[in-house]
Amino acid sequence: MLIKTGRDGFIHPVSSEITPQAVYRDRREILRLMATGAAGTALAAWAGRQAQAQAQRPGKLAALQAARSTVPGAVTMEKVTDYKDASTYNNFYEFGTDKADPARNAHTLKTTPWTVEVEGLVKKPAKYALEDLLKLGAQEERIYRLRCVEGWSMVIPWVGYSLSKLVEKVEPMGNAKFVEFITLADPKTMPYVGSRVLDWPYAEGLRLDEAMHPLTLLSFGMYGEVLPNQNGAPVRLVVPWKYGFKSAKSLVKIRFTDREPKTAWNKAAANEYGFYSNVNPEVDHPRWSQATERRIGEDGLFAKKRKTLMFNGYEAQVGQLYAGMDLKKNY
Ligand code: MTE
Repeated sequence: MLIKTGRDGFIHPVSSEITPQAVYRDRREILRLMATGAAGTALAAWAGRQAQAQAQRPGKLAALQAARSTVPGAVTMEKVTDYKDASTYNNFYEFGTDKADPARNAHTLKTTPWTVEVEGLVKKPAKYALEDLLKLGAQEERIYRLRCVEGWSMVIPWVGYSLSKLVEKVEPMGNAKFVEFITLADPKTMPYVGSRVLDWPYAEGLRLDEAMHPLTLLSFGMYGEVLPNQNGAPVRLVVPWKYGFKSAKSLVKIRFTDREPKTAWNKAAANEYGFYSNVNPEVDHPRWSQATERRIGEDGLFAKKRKTLMFNGYEAQVGQLYAGMDLKKNY
């Protein structure tokens, strides 16, 4: 994210409003069939393809059963990114700064035993063993867009439950206003912890009402399986309306506080990465535009940039959280 060269495969966004090829082709096909009265069949085929894509389970890791989520906005019908892309093009700086590094290096991460400690301004602080945390809520499948601040995006079927389930369990005190998320920083298993890229451990934060929003996911899996190490095993956060870096991986501590917590990227470059970091096409990063994005998997010769949507397309669900706030100031 701070790296300015093209080393990460980062391509500077250019503005384009053209519908991506695949979607365009699907629509054109449906229109053609509508003219011949076969639109119903075409739509059914399209839905079938979606279902197939969304049910893909690579069979590489342990299965994690989940029912399709009924939370409003939790399941996009957009084409799901291939598992291969989602698990080999990653940001996980503890394992290196190149997109391919986490998949290459994260096999050293030891995910059992694993505990997540919940502390701070709560009536019921607790240390949860992963097995107990897994059972705290019913596992749901959520198909979210993930928009990275660098200008690329994916569509990923996550498995997990609303973080609010855990928040309710520990009973925040009246003066708890923020939640801090702290991730593992183990120099023995994470080769880049100790490097000066970031101030370790990687830490993130949310306002309590953001943490309580039903779309904020505590995730244990993706594509019907437990998380691969490079995607933040065994448990991570997914906040779909914020830039990807808010979705902290490999969580070990959740702390409730009365003041805005310091976050890793904000500490590294406060003028570039704010506390809120809501996806916002109208507020540019100081060094590049945020108006468009490149969908991973659509990088072919004819692939066009997509327009980035306000709150990553989740405005109907989360816009109210920011009513009256100046989003240019609170970037
Ligand atoms: N969590 C930790 N602990 N370390 C990281 O470097 N990178 C963040 C976020 N969570 C990061 C992290 C960034 S910049 C992004 S875009 C997402 O993870 C990427 O998630 P993915 O690799 O599963 O797509």
